[in-house]
Amino acid sequence: MVADTGIYVRAADDPVGFWAEQAGALDWFRPWETVLEWDLPFARWFDGGTLNASVNCLDRHVAAGRGDRVAFHFEGEPGDTRTVTYADLLTEVSRFANVLLGLGVRREDRVALYLPMIPELPVAMLACARIGAVHAVVFSGFSPGALRERIEDAGARVVVTADGGWHGGEAVALKANVDQALAGGPPVDAVVVVRRVGRALPVVMVAGRDHWWDELLRGDDPMVGGPPSEVCEPERMGSEDLLFLLHTSGTTDRPKGIMHTTGGYLTQVAFTHRAVFDLRPDTDVYWCAADIGWITGHSYAVYGPLANGATSVLYEGVADHPARDRWWSVVERYGVTILYCAPTAIRTFMAWGDHFPAGHDLSSLRVLGSVGEPINPEAWLWYAGVIGGGRCPVVDTWWQTETGAILVSPLPGVTTTKPGSVTFALPGIGAEVVDDHGRPVDVGNGYLTLTRPWPAMLRGIYGQPEHYRQTYWDRLEGRYFTGDGARVDEEGYLWLLGRVDDVMNVAGHRISGIEIESSLADHPSVAEAAVVGVSDPTSGQAVVAFVTLRSGSGPPTEALGVELQDHVSGQIGAIARPRTVIFTDELPTTRSGTIMRRVLRAVAEGRPLGDTTTLSDPSVVEEIRVRARAAAREP
Ligand code: WT7
Repeated sequence: MVADTGIYVRAADDPVGFWAEQAGALDWFRPWETVLEWDLPFARWFDGGTLNASVNCLDRHVAAGRGDRVAFHFEGEPGDTRTVTYADLLTEVSRFANVLLGLGVRREDRVALYLPMIPELPVAMLACARIGAVHAVVFSGFSPGALRERIEDAGARVVVTADGGWHGGEAVALKANVDQALAGGPPVDAVVVVRRVGRALPVVMVAGRDHWWDELLRGDDPMVGGPPSEVCEPERMGSEDLLFLLHTSGTTDRPKGIMHTTGGYLTQVAFTHRAVFDLRPDTDVYWCAADIGWITGHSYAVYGPLANGATSVLYEGVADHPARDRWWSVVERYGVTILYCAPTAIRTFMAWGDHFPAGHDLSSLRVLGSVGEPINPEAWLWYAGVIGGGRCPVVDTWWQTETGAILVSPLPGVTTTKPGSVTFALPGIGAEVVDDHGRPVDVGNGYLTLTRPWPAMLRGIYGQPEHYRQTYWDRLEGRYFTGDGARVDEEGYLWLLGRVDDVMNVAGHRISGIEIESSLADHPSVAEAAVVGVSDPTSGQAVVAFVTLRSGSGPPTEALGVELQDHVSGQIGAIARPRTVIFTDELPTTRSGTIMRRVLRAVAEGRPLGDTTTLSDPSVVEEIRVRARAAAREP
């Protein structure tokens, strides 16, 4: 149930006018001529208008006298802290923007950012935005191979990285990964290296290509003639000019560079960040715990909060370093009022026990957000009760890399919530659950679709224009296909049921099964591999790989299983590492040769198989079932 606040009614009567009103909250150099031009599946929002994202995130707050407000309370994993005000951030961004210009980066050029969660990451993003360059952030947990693929796909000219980052008490070698990614591969003009872990890791600098961030900023690097100016004139960007690319997994083995443009994106992330978290920028201390390497961090750790002049916490490391109460000590130390995180984190904290949060004063918390995967009612209630002390509304927010901003969520104090439900579409958004034929489902299960364009929607897939329409708009005519199953209950509440394609959601990270399969198939011992996501009590889903070996590659051993797990971690990153590898002589296929992943998922979860009449050889499944049981018994 939604209390009558008028905002839903106004937006439903005139969604386009509603978004124009929200866009009016930004600073534009030149106003737009048209609010929306919609030629399915191509949208142009606020066309003719010009603006700069960094000006909206920084200059206008400083100009309004809020330069002394803290933008980021940074806390590194080892416990080092930095306080970055809006005035500081504007200076840092302007200086680094001038460094980028000095390195030859121009409007529309792509810059890859492979950095830990340190202030230099938002600085580099906003510096790109300031000069009209397009950032492509690559999650720092990705391997050199995954990094190379993204640098190549984006055609990045410059890579910004760090010597390393702190993760669970260890320095993770980022610069060495960049060296590996670039070896014999994509030609880049420059690599800029932030000194983060210092002596903890040796770094080899390639002459003529590699530059230290601090030397560039001091003017000590021969590439730049003296220290960069603290003033950088912002580019006047068209509303539909690219702001960034962010790669995500889909149903192919190739990551998709999701394209986001400037005016619509900024309009919607700013609006949703205010509305969904009931933001009070003068007093709130907001913490989005997601990594900036994912869309959650782009929209709700950088652009949304900064556009709104909010004060945020930025934390570098893991949740259990040095102890399992790290998050709660952060909440207490900074007086966090709004916390935004993933159900996996919540379930992990639940499993660790209530005494960790109980040891800290969490009374500053006011609003709790959840994102990335379905949250089970038990975890929802624990979050609300143990973390929120029963006084904080919980907002479960549904959206995607492609949607750019939150589309489905309660509004605190407005929407009556039900634990486990994302409730309703936000004002200005058309969401509908439909059946296979695209007919709306009043009550029951179906596919979640979007019926109208929205300002922060993706504008395409970089370098793969044909896949944009095919993937999102051709499945159900006239609608955007989200790939998610959903249920509508008797009162119209929405409940997310997970992906309906071969995309997995492991700990809130979208991972392509096909990508892992092709990584496994790369291994000399592997003949064929099939990968499925099976339900896991903590991470939501876990990766299980079924592998057949090449003849002559020897017997399937435990050591080979570990080698294959390491192979995937090495090629893609630890997030894609299969939890279990099950060796089998054959994979179940249909008579036409398609691997039946549905059957494998059932086997791995120990469920009944359902209809197997289309299997070419049902006895194959029996053998796999026996092996899967054996694998489940292994420690
Ligand atoms: C997929 C998008 C959006 C930021 C993080 C993930 C799943 C996301 C929820 C939620 C149930 C959710 C969906 C979606 N998802 N939020 N609140 N409840 N499922 O971004 O990597 O693009 O993944 O995450 O399956 O399609 P992403």
